[in-house]
Amino acid sequence: MRTYDVIKNKRDGLKLSPEAIRFMVQGFVKGEIPDYQMSAFLMAVFFKGMDEEETFHLTDAMRRSGDLIELPGIKGFTVDKHSTGGVGDKTSLVLGPVLATLGLKVAKLSGRGLGHTGGTIDKLEAIKGFSCDLTTKQFIDAVNSIGVAIAGQTGNLVPADKKIYALRDVTATVDSIPLIAASIMSKKLAIRNQGLVLDVKVGSGAFIKSLPDARELARLMVKIGKQDGRKVTAILSNMDEPLGEMIGNALEVREAIDTLRGKGPSDLMELVKTLATEALLQAKDRKISQAEAAQKVQEVISSGQAFTRFVEMVKSQGGDVAMVENPDRLPTAKEIRPLKATVGGNIKQIACEEVGLAAMMLGAGRETKDSVIDPAVGFRIIKRVGDSVQPGDTLAEIHLNPDRDPKPAMDRLLKAYIIGPEPVKALSLILDIVS
Ligand code: URA
Repeated sequence: MRTYDVIKNKRDGLKLSPEAIRFMVQGFVKGEIPDYQMSAFLMAVFFKGMDEEETFHLTDAMRRSGDLIELPGIKGFTVDKHSTGGVGDKTSLVLGPVLATLGLKVAKLSGRGLGHTGGTIDKLEAIKGFSCDLTTKQFIDAVNSIGVAIAGQTGNLVPADKKIYALRDVTATVDSIPLIAASIMSKKLAIRNQGLVLDVKVGSGAFIKSLPDARELARLMVKIGKQDGRKVTAILSNMDEPLGEMIGNALEVREAIDTLRGKGPSDLMELVKTLATEALLQAKDRKISQAEAAQKVQEVISSGQAFTRFVEMVKSQGGDVAMVENPDRLPTAKEIRPLKATVGGNIKQIACEEVGLAAMMLGAGRETKDSVIDPAVGFRIIKRVGDSVQPGDTLAEIHLNPDRDPKPAMDRLLKAYIIGPEPVKALSLILDIVS
């Protein structure tokens, strides 16, 4: 087989065989196919697409490019959750302990922030001592004893995705539905969980901007997972404004704790409940009703059991439990400044990508691979889509430390608020469920 022919066939819109797809992925990972040929191949896929069968074989070839995690000896229904990336998205911190309290086993591999989106590991590391650096044995033992563990991806998990993603990032081929589906599902299927709930973000702050595209991506990922024998449900959720009020690592941990104590913002609570209900329906083979499942989810939050489980998870992963029991001990910024509206009107949108980038400029995310995160800084969003404002009203709070000039970040956040004269309806969070 020749790389040239595979590229040409895809360029001409022909369907690729499983062998041709494996040949490309394996050859690229081994260094036998150079970057320029892989880039041309990715661009051909971007323009000509891939059908479901090709996307399944691409996912499978990518997932087999490195280690597979089998999760032996875990008793109970094992489940994972994945979000396609959002701003202010601290859902995993709440969902993991909720599901563990409901008797499910949550073996979750998480990542660090990517571009304007935050990462679960960065958030958890705002808790002093917390480590996601677990061996496979520590990971499995923690899932068995506590019901939930959150670990970082090991070096050799799906190396094909690391190499291909790096090329997509610089060749304008990230926003291709089959390439996104294969990238996400190769990582999710490399670990042998039985169930998977996907949170597909749609809107200005997401990789996918339109509802029809999000539906197509969701359906594709659900099918790929099912073909591999997993139970998969995708929730489509709105990312035209940040999730919850807090953006920034320690601020988000604090909001997750509030939510686990039953005092979280209503949108975060709604998303957690929806994802948890779907995971519980998967675990029970849909032998309970949606309403019963939702009721159980509410009970473990209201009773405080889910919060207790979070404390146990923090303890087992080396974190300072005192910070969780008393969130005032989490890193806090030296100064809080208000961001004031300069015009009056109704808030139409809060452009999330801009909000994420503004938070990064303040020190909450990495500008380069080697940047050091300041866990204390970030924003509290006070005015949301649908609210009306007068000039001088406080839109958000800026939590900052004196080592950085906050002005560029504040200017960017102000520009992210799109305010107009027409009345605006508040956004619905859950746009669809695909299972
Ligand atoms: N997240 C991923 O892991 N991969 C993509 O391609 C897009 C979002």
